[in-house]
Amino acid sequence: MSTAPFDFGPIFRPGLPPPAARWTGRVKYDFTGGNNDPDALPLDGLIAAAAAVLKREGRTLATYGLTSGPQGYRPLREFLAAKLKSAAGIAAAADDILITSGSLQAIDLVNNALLARGDTVIIEQDCYQGSINRLLRLGVTPVGIPLDRDGIRIDALASALDDLKGKGVRPKYIYTIPTVQNPTGTILPVERRQEMLRLSQTHGVPIFEDECYSDLVWSGERPPAIYAMSERGGVIHIGSFSKSIAPALRVGYIVAPWDVMSRVLTLKTDAGSGALEQMVLAEYCTGHFARHVPALRRSLRAKLETLMESLREHFGAAAEFEDPKGGIFLWVKLPDAIDTMKLYQPALAAGVAINPGPEWSVNTGHSRSRMRLCFASPSHEEIHQGVAALAEVCRREFGLPDTRDA
Ligand SMILES: Cc1ncc(COP(=O)(O)O)c(C=O)c1O
Repeated sequence: MSTAPFDFGPIFRPGLPPPAARWTGRVKYDFTGGNNDPDALPLDGLIAAAAAVLKREGRTLATYGLTSGPQGYRPLREFLAAKLKSAAGIAAAADDILITSGSLQAIDLVNNALLARGDTVIIEQDCYQGSINRLLRLGVTPVGIPLDRDGIRIDALASALDDLKGKGVRPKYIYTIPTVQNPTGTILPVERRQEMLRLSQTHGVPIFEDECYSDLVWSGERPPAIYAMSERGGVIHIGSFSKSIAPALRVGYIVAPWDVMSRVLTLKTDAGSGALEQMVLAEYCTGHFARHVPALRRSLRAKLETLMESLREHFGAAAEFEDPKGGIFLWVKLPDAIDTMKLYQPALAAGVAINPGPEWSVNTGHSRSRMRLCFASPSHEEIHQGVAALAEVCRREFGLPDTRDA
């Protein structure tokens, strides 16, 4: 008998994505991903909530779905219904909400219900990598619409819809991150939301609204959700606790009309999302969310100030950016000579991880010299040192920023 290890190679299904690399640990200066500020995590509150809810109703864990049915822990859905009403103007009952394992699962479920290979969807040109990659893997064509300081450009959206119509293509949805866009940090004003709804109705294309950063607007004021503004339905809304509490909890949600919800429910075949997380969140958030979020915003804003200061100090005019209105990312334009896909590896070797622009955009020409920096997770000191180290790598690899820039 052969002692060679079993070879799975020939039996993997065709069309699998390339194999994953083994995780080699976090780098010293990590500006990647959508990680949160560890110091702003409401740990004591979560510990107290876990103890209280487990003592009171922990035995319900013996039942799949607790005693709340397939849409998730009812007190969490009730908290969300109240919060979505007061914060975003959404009139949804607990039964209009499905709790998911992060909003990534929400995206997968909606895509699974609506998309088939060969379909077309409209997205913002610079966009969440997780959404872009999912579309590409499904064999769906994303049509990117450029953004300006106020988010997606409605004139460009209107032309794209007309253009597609002319070709006999009806996109399956318009995907948007209207309230603190990832990666640009823009907020779509209410007038543009109205215009988008009008276009959506004229062309019979629904809107898929992704709002995981909407609690992190510095001013605390946000326009109503597009879902809330729609009089005729046609909007699917998703959100998450990843950015307002903690991403590792993996709790997100979908708000949708019943004809969509009833389809999505049949596709959620995991027998329920993690119940303990839902219980702890409901217990904590019902009493404390409203006080926690402003404190989180202050700590994130302070880190953004440190990042912008560090970039001005070490890159000077070579780093261009808008001061985002909230969130955890800065979308930075470097000089045209810098290809951030080529900057990525040498930066990593120097202990600095960045997200290169082309991975967060469907327009590689536009995003080639851009990068996304997450400022929530590194400490102030790490931000400072990491930006200095990144400037050094840029200078060594591309001769920029030169000393007159910084
Ligand atoms: C726009 C957007 N949508 C969805 C997600 C997924 O978040 P989660 O699955 O942690 O809720 C992210 C994460 O960064 C995001 O930026």
